[in-house]
Amino acid sequence: MLGRLLELAGIEAVIIERRSPDYVLGRIRAGVLEQGSVELMDRAGLGERLHREGLDHNGIELSFDGDTHRLDFTALIGRHVTVYGQTEVTRDLMAAREQSGATTIYDAEDVAISGFDTDHPVVTYRKDGQVHTVECDFVAGCDGFHGVCRASIPPDAMRTFERIYPFGWLGVLVDQPPVAPELIYAHHERGFALCSMRSPSRSRYYVQVQSDEAVSNWSDDRFWDELRARLDPATAQRLRTGPSLEKSIAPLRSFVTEPLRFGTLFLAGDAAHIVPPTGAKGLNLAMSDVAALAETLETYYRDRSISVLDTYSPRVLSRIWKAERFSWWMTSLLHVFPENGDFGRRIQRAEFDYLVGSLAAQQSLAENYTGLL
Ligand code: DHB
Repeated sequence: MLGRLLELAGIEAVIIERRSPDYVLGRIRAGVLEQGSVELMDRAGLGERLHREGLDHNGIELSFDGDTHRLDFTALIGRHVTVYGQTEVTRDLMAAREQSGATTIYDAEDVAISGFDTDHPVVTYRKDGQVHTVECDFVAGCDGFHGVCRASIPPDAMRTFERIYPFGWLGVLVDQPPVAPELIYAHHERGFALCSMRSPSRSRYYVQVQSDEAVSNWSDDRFWDELRARLDPATAQRLRTGPSLEKSIAPLRSFVTEPLRFGTLFLAGDAAHIVPPTGAKGLNLAMSDVAALAETLETYYRDRSISVLDTYSPRVLSRIWKAERFSWWMTSLLHVFPENGDFGRRIQRAEFDYLVGSLAAQQSLAENYTGLL
């Protein structure tokens, strides 16, 4: 998205990607777009398929030990979200780049950055056995939590804040219609479960598992039995199962780096911060980061204003911390934390009951979930 926004502003950018196009397009990622992310796709001139195929969702369902409660975002605050896979967003962006002839280098090995404490940063990479060098004005570190950009910053030049949760999400993709028209976030004494979807005929389901759990321990049958056990009986009975198209485990983590600019290097997306997936904020935060970064760079090139570069980090960090709070809160409400014992579960039940009885609490959840941060 950053590449596209810069291209539309007449700023040349090269994307250097460690993986192949097929690998990138084969990864199953998030699925819920806030209105701001949809608007950004429109601004990028790439909203056509999204508006055609995306599913507008006016609410979500919460389930606690089988008691269900629907949150109607549209009635509560007049907003909605759109279900459209991150993989499809990536596909649309890649196709646009291909069409316009903008440069993306795939299968780049040994990517390294240097000189970002000067006005002449340099990126090097190896491809087909040859070392290549890109000289540039700025480096945008959009290379994820395990990427080289944040790892290249001297540790004493940044602060990091982190919480690792003692569990992960086991996810399954299946060619079956979704069990319900809206997403269901379920708390159960056996652990959290989420019913999501990618289209009217393709569903995505998750269950909380221990962080050291191996995918190989989970046959499809075991997954479906565990999911059913965590849903309210009526939903469990409606569930349509089938062979998994994809099955993987993702760890849960909250993480923030500060600041997000070091000289001529900027961090954005998962390179800068991680949210646990509960609340569907990861992709949307990355989108709002790069919208702000593109605007910052546009102003810089238009006005040659060095001072505008200082505005990026504080501007995006305020939204990042709000999304961190919400994702942490929703994770805390819905998962089982063995170390918190029975007291912890009673507090979670009280939080659910409070939410169900409080219009203000429901509006707050709706605002955060739909991205009114
Ligand atoms: C999906 C993932 C999430 O983290 C979430 O909160 C909702 C949906 C998904 O993959 O569909």
